[in-house]
Amino acid sequence: MHSSNALYTDLSGYYDLMCADIDYQTQSQSARRLHQFFGGNGRTHLDLACGTGPHIRHFLDAGYQSSGLDLNQPMLDKARQRCPEAHFTLQNMCDFTLEQQVDFITCFLYSIHYSASIKNLKACIHSVFNALKPGGVFCFNAVDKDKIDNNSYVRHSAVVDDSHFVFESGWNYSGTGETQTLNLSIEKTTTDLKQLWQDQHPMVAVSFAELELLLCPYFEVHILEHNYEKIAAWDQDAGNAVFVCIKR
Ligand SMILES: C[S@@+](CC[C@H](N)C(=O)[O-])C[C@H]1O[C@@H](n2cnc3c(N)ncnc32)[C@H](O)[C@@H]1O
Repeated sequence: MHSSNALYTDLSGYYDLMCADIDYQTQSQSARRLHQFFGGNGRTHLDLACGTGPHIRHFLDAGYQSSGLDLNQPMLDKARQRCPEAHFTLQNMCDFTLEQQVDFITCFLYSIHYSASIKNLKACIHSVFNALKPGGVFCFNAVDKDKIDNNSYVRHSAVVDDSHFVFESGWNYSGTGETQTLNLSIEKTTTDLKQLWQDQHPMVAVSFAELELLLCPYFEVHILEHNYEKIAAWDQDAGNAVFVCIKR
């Protein structure tokens, strides 16, 4: 199996298995806490690059009126099954519009980096600004290009029926330019067959200082520790963080 440009079309069947170790409930709870802390009482919500909709399920269950946006129809089909009461749109997060502004916009699992270039990242930020109500909150996580460790990766395995899966993901940044890659691999082993699926996906590379500058014209920006258990300021050192942005 090999793919370069149809990442999530190919992956949609494996996506939830690949993410089986992610604590979506805790992430969603943490985001709601941040919204209430920084934002207020509104309950309309949009999840950007929502994938198969795991966060949306938790937001709906907590009483939010959630909707989802993704570029990939197979991912949205799965999200619709999981969240029949939510509204989903097939749009690019770098150029999207909503019929009605919302109170809260999230973007999880570093998906904002899929904007792929600084120009598109700016357009994404601008679209988010337009889609939020006054005082609305935009919450996402990101990685700082200058702190990427090219040797570090996340790995986990799963067994389904007769197949053994090994999933690996890691960032790579050459040290210059506005592109870093997300390297994903899935190895599927059945009794007598081993299949390897690998993807190197171009993602936008940005330092947190640059990102803050892009956001500041539109938002009051808080950079927080990447910790879903508590609200604490980013220590200026960690390579990942949660950004909470309040519409000016
Ligand atoms: C790593 S998945 C994250 C899904 C979900 N947020 C989660 O936490 O499980 C990235 C998602 O981003 C979507 N995506 C990639 N580029 C996009 C774009 N430009 N606009 C909207 N969605 C995009 C992909 O289709 C995929 O569903």
